[in-house]
Amino acid sequence: MDIVTTDFPEHKNHTGALTVLEGGQHIPFDIARVYYIYEVPEGEIRGHHAHKTLQQYLICLQGTCEIMLDDGKQQRTICLTKPNRGLFVGVNMWRTMKFQENAILLVLASAPYEEEDYIRQYEGFLQYLQEQEGMS
Ligand code: TYD
Repeated sequence: MDIVTTDFPEHKNHTGALTVLEGGQHIPFDIARVYYIYEVPEGEIRGHHAHKTLQQYLICLQGTCEIMLDDGKQQRTICLTKPNRGLFVGVNMWRTMKFQENAILLVLASAPYEEEDYIRQYEGFLQYLQEQEGMS
């Protein structure tokens, strides 16, 4: 499984740090939606789904987020600990996100919210992957 993380440039001096993400330059898709997840109880796990067409970049703005990715064959865990690091999560990727230390997770998404794009049952995810393989 290929893991794509990006360390976005930081403008840093004694007054603090600033990171900028420009469409067409830092993110490989047009950003159609931005949301953020916060006030998650310590150690809580969210996610438990995959997307059929949605691409996302996950950025942990504060604290630590452990992202578990599963493509149906392999599992990888990526720990996001700094606010200028982004993790690309493409299609057909089961993800769970564990929140620690008052974490705030920013998500940049390639399309508006559409519940039909979610696969929310793990068994259904594996079945969907098999169907995709059968079609290719
Ligand atoms: P969900 O994607 O399941 O969150 P997580 O993957 O972090 O557990 O979304 C939680 C709820 O928020 C669910 O009821 C759908 C709603 N929601 C929207 O209405 N719009 C959105 O853009 C998103 C991401 C979620």
